[in-house]
Amino acid sequence: MNIEIAKQASGKKAAELIENGMIVGLGTGTTASYFIEALILRCKEGLRIQAVSSSKKSAEIAKKGNIPILDINDVSHVDITVDGADEIDSKKRMIKGGGGAHVREKILAASSKEMIVIVDENKVVPSIGHVKLPVEILPYGFQMTYTRIKYLNLSGNWRTNPDQSLFLTENKNYILDIHFDSPPPSPEKTNEQLIQIPGVVDTGFFFHLASRVIIGHLDGTTNIWD
Ligand code: 5RP
Repeated sequence: MNIEIAKQASGKKAAELIENGMIVGLGTGTTASYFIEALILRCKEGLRIQAVSSSKKSAEIAKKGNIPILDINDVSHVDITVDGADEIDSKKRMIKGGGGAHVREKILAASSKEMIVIVDENKVVPSIGHVKLPVEILPYGFQMTYTRIKYLNLSGNWRTNPDQSLFLTENKNYILDIHFDSPPPSPEKTNEQLIQIPGVVDTGFFFHLASRVIIGHLDGTTNIWD
């Protein structure tokens, strides 16, 4: 499918930007996986890097390709994090968390000197909020937490596994996928309101984190927002 070509192109382009000696933050998702695969090829050609991962899945892919994975608590800094997004606007505001890894992804991005975002062209939108907003929530009191979210006139669905049990993040929390009738006029305000509710761990809104954005197109070309 062409969308895969677009994702792969952005991942490959990002891998070209990685330099010897870097500690690289690995995002999660299909586009991030294309990046890791391209990075493995570069390592086979002689690139020497180490990585920290936002998920077990990305760590597994990297380890299979002999990329050394470090524990985030054993590194003092991350040079560059490369990650996908579910939506991004022209101000580089994003919604992430389709893969349920946004809390770790945000920690990695915030700890990095640079976050490179890799997306296919369909992810670029005039305003974010067409996709559901994943919000990670502590299991303790989660129904009461949801009641307080509903006071904000927001509602959503608890993310489930195929067997209908509640999906657990790698942090052992739940995810509420909030649905907006239309994109929120101020995602920043919505984010502020949500993160002030006790029990909310973090939202999938990412602001002021992306630096370069690599957009992959269906014909396999890419362009970069600096
Ligand atoms: C995972 C994420 C992903 O980066 C986001 O969902 C995009 O995924 P994909 O590259 O598979 O479209 O935030 O938590």
